[in-house]
This record gives sequence, structure tokens and C-alpha cells, in this order.
Amino acid sequence: MSTKRQILVTNALPYANAALHLGHILEYTQTDVWVRFQRMRGHACYYVSADDAHGTAIMLKADAKGISAEQHIADMRSIHEADFRDFLIGVDNYHSTHSEENREYSELIYKRLVKNGHIAKREITQSFDSEKQLFLADRYIRGTCPKCKTEDQYGDNCEACSATYAPTDLIDPVSVLSGTTPIEKQSTHYFFKLPEFTQFLKTWTRSGAVQDEVANKLGEWLDSGLQEWDISRDAPYFGFEIPDAPNKYFYVWLDAPIGYMASFKNLCDRESLDFDQFWAADSSAELYHFIGKDIVNFHALFWPAMLSSANFRTPTKVCVHGFVTVNGKKMSKSRGTFINARCYLDHLNPEYLRYYYASKLSNSVEDIDLNLEDFIQRVNSDLVGKLVNIASRCAKFITKGNDGLLSATVENPALWQQVSGAGEKIADFYENRDYSKAIREIMAQADAANEYIAAKEPWKLNKDPSKQQQVQDICSLGINLFRVLLTYLKPVLPAMTADGEHFLNDCLSWESIQAPLTEHRINNFKPLLQRVEKEKVDAMLEASKQEAEQAAATPHKGPSAGEPIADEIGFDDFIKVDLRVARIVKAQAVEGADKLLALTLDIGGETRNVFSGIKSSYKPEDLEGRLTVMVANLAPRKMRFGVSEGMVLAAADNKGIYLLAPDSGAIPGHRIT
Ligand code: MSP
Ligand code: ZN
Repeated sequence: MSTKRQILVTNALPYANAALHLGHILEYTQTDVWVRFQRMRGHACYYVSADDAHGTAIMLKADAKGISAEQHIADMRSIHEADFRDFLIGVDNYHSTHSEENREYSELIYKRLVKNGHIAKREITQSFDSEKQLFLADRYIRGTCPKCKTEDQYGDNCEACSATYAPTDLIDPVSVLSGTTPIEKQSTHYFFKLPEFTQFLKTWTRSGAVQDEVANKLGEWLDSGLQEWDISRDAPYFGFEIPDAPNKYFYVWLDAPIGYMASFKNLCDRESLDFDQFWAADSSAELYHFIGKDIVNFHALFWPAMLSSANFRTPTKVCVHGFVTVNGKKMSKSRGTFINARCYLDHLNPEYLRYYYASKLSNSVEDIDLNLEDFIQRVNSDLVGKLVNIASRCAKFITKGNDGLLSATVENPALWQQVSGAGEKIADFYENRDYSKAIREIMAQADAANEYIAAKEPWKLNKDPSKQQQVQDICSLGINLFRVLLTYLKPVLPAMTADGEHFLNDCLSWESIQAPLTEHRINNFKPLLQRVEKEKVDAMLEASKQEAEQAAATPHKGPSAGEPIADEIGFDDFIKVDLRVARIVKAQAVEGADKLLALTLDIGGETRNVFSGIKSSYKPEDLEGRLTVMVANLAPRKMRFGVSEGMVLAAADNKGIYLLAPDSGAIPGHRIT
């Protein structure tokens, strides 16, 4: 094997404002497989990650929950860490961009950019929400498209006609945050002089640091001329204040990639590693960033330019992947295909998905479809039908017939050579992130092993007492082939491999495939993997759908006092809504639904069952007996837990939910007008 490499690997840091979903898991699987592969090859490979904790979205999310930003990011971090752990993502360190290390490196890099003359400062005009006292990013402004006149479009582009424009071009623009009309306001901003790095980036992007298709895309941007990059945001902002610029904060994307350094620094301090060995301008260590195609400009333009100005090394490679679609379409909440990582884990084994993703991943930026029929079929046929089958067919003859001892000889040296000789080819595929080719090769070798066993029929030979040695020799080779195949899959299937290592009584490494196990005692075989059951996949989809429905059944925070009243309606419209006094006769938690209560409502001679997302604010026993108001003629809605026959009325804000109640004495069933 070649000399020992020093490698630092990162994945894109997930935003601390949402749970991880199966799109994220694609990236973290791709990264983790690569890291595990490098470690198996004997290289020093460190893998660091972190939550991306800054920015307006996170600040607003914390506000909406009525908690501090610090509390919010701490909560999200532990949720993300648990998801990473349970998907067997073996990071060496999980940190946060809201950390002292990150503040230190962000300030250091910024000061070096200033010193090198790469920071400009000038006034700009921006949309401003004068009620919330906040400058508005494009996505927080909506209005009528100036081109096709479709209402309610985002501040930067129209979903109906695809026109792109400035938020100031929108007709009747409205701040999404307060419903008020934004005003235009001036403010000083700080800019990174990206155009000065055009030549450097033209060379760097063609140096093999990104895939060709990515370099071509970047080439288009580079040729059409780069713009200075706005790296400051005005207070209030959740982030780091810019040195010597009171009330100005680093834009979240300035300090996010620096978070890679910060997380690694944190690891270095803990494990006495040499930070500079990896980050100094003349470092001979390798630096790999795994990212999705939506964030290429940040990683392959801004980031290398900043690093080079600040006298740090640039990435060896930025590895870009495509997006996950589910059953051929963008993930969608209403179809149940927006699947959160936790929802998957509640129903299915993480290694199924790791294997499926590996079987589809290549080093291109093409999207990857998680087709659930294909997923079931692929995992069952490859892992259960081909791989595990080899061991389960052979093990019993050895553990029973020979007390677990493998033969001293290799029954078919040519076959052994073929399967164990595929290692370097498979290693090349892993190295180049061509996991689908690695898997195809491994499964072709598994087919060869199965064909060998099927042709030899040891179960028939076993009936003849004179053929016992032959049975042992055939099955010993079967076990040895299984061992090699499992070694090849170890980066993808770490948990199953650990069980396999116990069965084989051996530690699987890339080097150990050179020699077969002979006269070696194995343990009793226990099934290493269950088949994927379609019912569980369906249950996961249903649960995803329910998560979305529960959110819909929860009183949502509409505009609050002082904010605009909805469009006027006539009395005829109003009277269509049949509101009734209702008595809550029973209130119960709903198993499997953390937000819902099941309410039994008496509306005078008739009872209704209604699911309502008010659990966070009410104890069921406190509700029983009290009066409320329900919409009695709302179309029934079918949910997993049953049919919801109407809706109770409530207001909601950051602190809680407030159920409506008529004065005492009102009679259940009376109509409210
Ligand atoms: N916080 C930034 C990254 C900062 S890196 C210094 C961010 N976060 S994210 O949570 O939106 O995305 C994290 C990673 O997940 C990104 O690489 C993104 O491309 C990837 N994915 C998000 N949705 C995805 C799919 N549907 N499919 C595949 N990857 C996807 O961007
Ligand atoms: Zn339009």
C-alpha cells in the first residue's frame, strides 16, 4: 500500500433551524463511506462537522418558539447529533459555528482580508421592515410579479413565469414578517472583493479541485464577471459582530465554512493534533469538502478566494453531489415523501438506506432518486438474497460438521483469486466516489460465489458420509468469499460488518483480504440482516404524511394585533361557516402523535371526534367538561389516527395556544352567529 495520507474531510454544515431529512442523509452517507474507506486503507482521516447556527432564519425561528437563539441552536444540535449517530455517521467531532473557535478564526481571516485590501465598504439601499426594524432578505418579501402579474411571488423570482427581478420591482410588495409595506433604507455594508480573484479562481477551478461539469458551470460564471460579495448584515442579527464595525455582523455564509476550521481546531485541542499541519498555506495534508450542488459558489469561489487571501491552504477537492428525489419527484410533504431522518429511523434500519444510496452514488452531480419499490427490491435481493445468503448456506455445515473450524485448503484457488483480486479495482471506485460501480462489482463477485455454491450443492454431498471433507472445503471457501465481500462493504455497512466480524471471529481490513482464513474457528451464524418489509416502508410514508397533517391541524400563528386584517367578505360568505357551542366530553393524547389531542365534542344530541394540535398547551384532563367553539360543517379530514370531524377554534402565539370558550351557561349545539 502507498504511503500514509493525512486527510481532513467535512460535510456541509446543516442549518440549525430544521431537522435533517433524507436529502441530508445522502450527503452524510457519501462522506462517511469515503472516510471509513480511507481509514480502512490505513490513512489518517479526520472527519469534522458542525451545526450552521447563524443567520436571520435561525433568529426568527427562535423568536417564533419564544426561546433564545442560544437555546434554539442547542436544542437543534442535540437532535442533529442523534440523527448523525443513528445513521452511523462516524464524525470525529461535531461542533457549532456559534463557538469561540469560530469567532476567533472568522475575525482572524477577516482582519487578514482587510489588511490585504480585499474588503470594500459602501452604502447600499435595501428593503426594510419598519415595524420589525429589520432589513429584509429577498425571501422575506412577497408581492405581485412585475412581468406576468401573478400575485404572492418571492422578492427575487416568480414561480409562475420564472422572471428574475429585484424586490424593489415587485408590485405591492409586502414584508412576510409583519405584513407591512417595506420601505427603502440606506446602510453601510462590507464587501469581499471577489473579482480580484478571477484569475486565481480560473486556475484553481481547473486544477482538478472540482468535477469537470462543475468547473464548466463555474467557468460560465467566471467568464461573465464576478461581483463583490456582501459579507455584512445589520443588527439585529444572530452571528458574530464584525471587528471595529459596531452593529454590523458577519453574514452567515462568511463564517459557515470557517466553521470547518473551528470544528477541527476543537478536535485538535482535545486530541493534541497539529492544526497547522492541515491548514497552513504549504500544508501537504489533503482537505476534502463534500457538498450539494446548491452551494457550489460558496465553496468553489468565495471560500478558496478567502483562504488564499488569508494565507491558508485551499481545498484539495470540493466533491459535489446532486439532490435526492423520492419516487421521481421533489420531496413533498403532502405526498409523505418529505421524510425526516428520524421518521425513517423510527421505521427502518439505517443500513438499508446507506446501501441503497451507495448503490446509486457516482461522482457526478446528477440527482439521485430514492424509488421506494426499487429500494426494497435492491436491498432484499443484494444484501439478503446474495450476500448474507452465502454465509447462511455455508455456516451450518462448518459449525455442525466441523465444530466451527475452517478447512486448511482453498477448494477453488481460481475463484478465490478472482474475488479477492477485485479489491484494488473496488478501492479505486471508492476513492473516486464511484460507489455505484463499487457495489456493482461487489455484487458481481457475490453472484460468482453463489453460483459456485449452487453448482457444488454441499447440502447434497453432505448426505454422503464419504464426502464430508469436500463439504467442509466448499463451505470454507464460501465463508472466505463472504468474508472478502463483507470487507468490501465495510465502509457502507459498519454495523452489519461488526456483527459479521463476530461471526467470523476476525477483524476485517483491506489488507486482510490477501490471505484466506484457514484452520480458523468461526462462531455460530446468526442472521445478519432482516428483509425490508413493504409494510414498514408504507408506515414510514404514512407517518411522514401525518407529521405534515398534524402541523396543519395545529392552530397556526396568524397575524397578531395591529397587523392587517384579511380581505373583506360578505355576510353570505360568513354565514356559510356553521359555528357551534361544543362541550369537550373527553380529551385524550393520541399515540404516535406528539402534537395532537383527540377531542370528543358534544354538540347537543350529536358527538364529534376532532383531532386538534393543542397538546403543547393543554393537559387533556383540564379540558374535559369545558365549553368551546367548533366549526361543525368543515369537510371531514382522514388522518392516520382516524377521521377528524371539524375543528375547534383557538388563537396562537409564541407562548402558547388559547382555546376559545363561550361564557358559562351556553348550551352545547347552539349555533353561534
Ligand atoms: N448551512 C449550509 C451549508 C454551510 S457549509 C459551510 C446549508 N445547509 S443545509 O442544511 O441547507 O444543507 C446541508 C447540505 O445538505 C448541503 O450540502 C445541501 O446541498 C444538502 N442537501 C439539502 N437537501 C438535499 C437534497 N434534497 N438532496 C441532497 N442533498 C441535499 O446549505
Ligand atoms: Zn411572473
